[in-house]
Amino acid sequence: MPKAELHIHIEGSLEPELIFAMAARNGVAIAYSSVEELRQAYAFSNLQSFLDIYYAGASVLLHEQDFHDMAWAYLERAAADNVVHAEIFFDPQTHTARGVDMGVVINGLHRACVEAKARLGVDASLILCFLRHLSEDDALETLQQALPYRDKFIGVGLDSSEVGHPPEKFARVFEKCRGLGLHLVAHAGEEGPPAYVWTALDVLKVERIDHGVQSTKDPALMKRLAQDRIALTVCPLSNLKLCVFPQLADHNIRELLDAGLAATINSDDPAYFGGYMNENFTQTFAATGLTAAHAYQLAKNSFDASFTDAATKRRYT
Ligand code: HPA
Ligand code: ZN
Repeated sequence: MPKAELHIHIEGSLEPELIFAMAARNGVAIAYSSVEELRQAYAFSNLQSFLDIYYAGASVLLHEQDFHDMAWAYLERAAADNVVHAEIFFDPQTHTARGVDMGVVINGLHRACVEAKARLGVDASLILCFLRHLSEDDALETLQQALPYRDKFIGVGLDSSEVGHPPEKFARVFEKCRGLGLHLVAHAGEEGPPAYVWTALDVLKVERIDHGVQSTKDPALMKRLAQDRIALTVCPLSNLKLCVFPQLADHNIRELLDAGLAATINSDDPAYFGGYMNENFTQTFAATGLTAAHAYQLAKNSFDASFTDAATKRRYT
């Protein structure tokens, strides 16, 4: 089934084998002695326990070729799962804080996206994410550094540690991005409360909510999301591995879809959470009893919610 992936952190697609290969070629020391030992450390209790190891993994990325190779590996894997359109998150502050130039990050990722169209038939674009555990001033400075590359990304998002860092902390920078014609998305309601989904919508004015699974706790919010067809980019295996739901069978994806919300299925950080797109679909369907009609709706939602052009949406829906 052709589908769009709208919630993938490219640094979260970095497989342990690639981390070790880049560490060796770049002379970067890592705290694990083997690929197996690193993979064994992938046992998380919440979002923060994952983020600590995710940022450590990203420390091997130094050169434009590294960013290219990481994105290319993801795009090949996505193509194998019949992902025909991908909107890819990247976290520049993770790299610029280590002295890597913004141009190195964006040019490397963008070159892989251009190649993906020509060689894989995958239409890929980039969304720059601000790290919400850092200050809004840091985000504003990051935006400034990225502006010379404005034509190489289509939007901005908000990720990293959610609780204690509400969307409204980034009101000014999102307002500025809106003025620049950038698409706007934000993680909200992954671990954080429904109030964060409300302020992502009403203060930041985002077009989609990343995760949003806590929204089922607030009936008025569910009504708003359904009425305005605000898409939720849901990531079931991520939610399982970060203990947002105790078991996949407890996931609320069916409740979201049956309430008329534009939910989609995505992989989030597939190298860390045990599966790319098709694995997210097959495990979720097996655990929750979703039907073929739900599968069609999920694929349709993914194109409808994407930032691609109307002709591409029509071709696939
Ligand atoms: N949530 C917040 N920040 C992230 C995630 C996530 O699922 N993945 C990578 N950064
Ligand atoms: Zn995410």
